[in-house]
Amino acid sequence: MCGIVAYIGPDQAFDFLIQGLRRLEYRGYDSAGVALLDGDMKVYKEHGKVQDLVDKIGNQNTEGNRGIGHTRWATHGEPNEKNAHPHLSPSGDLAVIHNGIIENYATLKEALVELGSVFKSDTDTEVLIHLIENIKTNEKCSLFEAVRLALNEVVGAYAIVILSKNDPNTLIGARKGSPMVLGIGNKPGEYFIASDATPIVEYTRKVTYLEDGEIAEIKDGVLTIKTIDNIKKTPFIHNLEITLDAIEKGGYDHFMLKEIFEQPKSIHDSFRGRIDSNSLKIEMRSLNEFENKIRNLKRIIIIGCGTSWHAGLVGEYLFEDFARIPVEVEYASEFRYRNPVLYSDDLVIAISQSGETADTLAALELAKQAGATIFGVCNVVGSSIPRMTDAGAYTHAGPEIGVASTKAFTAQVTVLTLLALGFAQRRGTISDSRLRSVLQEIERIPAKVEKVLKSCQESVLEIAEKFADVSNFLYLGRGYNFPVALEGALKLKEISYIHAEGYPAAEMKHGPIALIDEAMPVIVIATQNDIYEKVLSNIQEVKARKGKIIAIVTEGDTRVKDIAEHVIEIPETEDALVPLLSTLPLQLLSYHIAVMRGCNVDQPRNLAKSVTVE
Ligand code: AGP
Repeated sequence: MCGIVAYIGPDQAFDFLIQGLRRLEYRGYDSAGVALLDGDMKVYKEHGKVQDLVDKIGNQNTEGNRGIGHTRWATHGEPNEKNAHPHLSPSGDLAVIHNGIIENYATLKEALVELGSVFKSDTDTEVLIHLIENIKTNEKCSLFEAVRLALNEVVGAYAIVILSKNDPNTLIGARKGSPMVLGIGNKPGEYFIASDATPIVEYTRKVTYLEDGEIAEIKDGVLTIKTIDNIKKTPFIHNLEITLDAIEKGGYDHFMLKEIFEQPKSIHDSFRGRIDSNSLKIEMRSLNEFENKIRNLKRIIIIGCGTSWHAGLVGEYLFEDFARIPVEVEYASEFRYRNPVLYSDDLVIAISQSGETADTLAALELAKQAGATIFGVCNVVGSSIPRMTDAGAYTHAGPEIGVASTKAFTAQVTVLTLLALGFAQRRGTISDSRLRSVLQEIERIPAKVEKVLKSCQESVLEIAEKFADVSNFLYLGRGYNFPVALEGALKLKEISYIHAEGYPAAEMKHGPIALIDEAMPVIVIATQNDIYEKVLSNIQEVKARKGKIIAIVTEGDTRVKDIAEHVIEIPETEDALVPLLSTLPLQLLSYHIAVMRGCNVDQPRNLAKSVTVE
């Protein structure tokens, strides 16, 4: 968690730092702070959001053409001003910002206290900067060397940037397990550092992603990258593809709403150039390179967290349906600590919007060690997961800024559909005619998404108004709509703070049915498929207990209409593609309820977009 930004170059750093922190605020918004160097080191910090920091700074001096900034999601130490970054070394020479967790900070702190260190905060980060200064003084070495030696003593995850008053022409960045992008500016000696590329894109398109265990030193305008074992590396320069529009609200009130309405395009982008329903081509590097493996595959394990885990559940249905491969879907956080049985011929697929989720990364590492083949389905280009996997596919959904995942989910589901169909084609488990009809339907999905988003607005608003004040919601679905029920419930919980549970509709009678009374809104996703009749019976069970039924049905459905209080229609489609449509009204419903309840939709309390801590 946490967002970091840094600048060194000919211009004033402050505006870049603040704008960058605003862009990274989705990563955490417990506190914000900057350090600016202009002969003197000026440090400003504030509990709360970046705007609170800006208000606090007011007209104070913000001069300095080098600086670092941080927006925090609290781990060690309460979210208050004292624990806000940057943190200073004992002499005040060094300032550090940090994203991650220093796991052995308590032991290091104890040793430093014995040597006379006095700490001002409760953070692990302050321990790190004390350690660096201690080494620098004792070893009489350069700042780079002190950082390198200190990092060799550290256990944990970090992306850090260090600024030094006594060494003003140097900026040091280092990473392990937390993301870091370095932008190479267009002006001589100009460099940018950030947790992701969004703060950098309007200044330069030339970036390099620091690898785990690497340290970057920008000294006198020159960038040098070395490993923590002191081996020099040649930076690989990438050209950024994201646009400025993609990271701005573009007239919408919230990023989440913008991202919901971007789905016709983001879904299209996730399959564009990858399928051709005429030639039956499904083109993805992973499919070609691992063709043999796919043909002989015995098992797939899908890992993810939150919404990505829900996409993984849809993936389970897809791979089993089309490619006839057994699939297990695992919460990354459980999988990694469970001593799981892994075989070298397993395929492990990690799903992650950010590509940085700590639990998913750790679970993937475990699978890698066991010799399994690892694929990634990620959205953020150049993030950690795609860089450690054998292959995979980007979802191409574009930057997702709202903390609640929307377009990333539908893009993940689309990419999993392509993979499942590609696997099925290579394993001979799907006929050409069936494949053609599914591919043709995928090509029709963006238009259907557009139609749902337009047509359901009015009913969604009406339902939101009616139920915005309730305390509980139940979401039911079966088959492909079961993960959608889970996802709908998660969306409502995270942004409106209403308790919501998702259940397989038939499981309701094994417990949750006890909750149903006339005050309980029950959302049932009841699209027409092989188990439609069964879902109808489940709806009747809710009705019999006076629950308020809100149903998502296939266009033209009349039977559910007779029973439900509210009905939202979605166009008919392949059962396997239904989640791409049925999830849309649920996203909008959560959004409108959250707005009506006055919640901060894009930055819900206690959450952050990218969970880089365990
Ligand atoms: C989604 O709305 C959530 N905010 C959250 O569950 C998220 O999906 C989860 O933290 C996983 O993130 P990732 O996809 O970036 O790995």
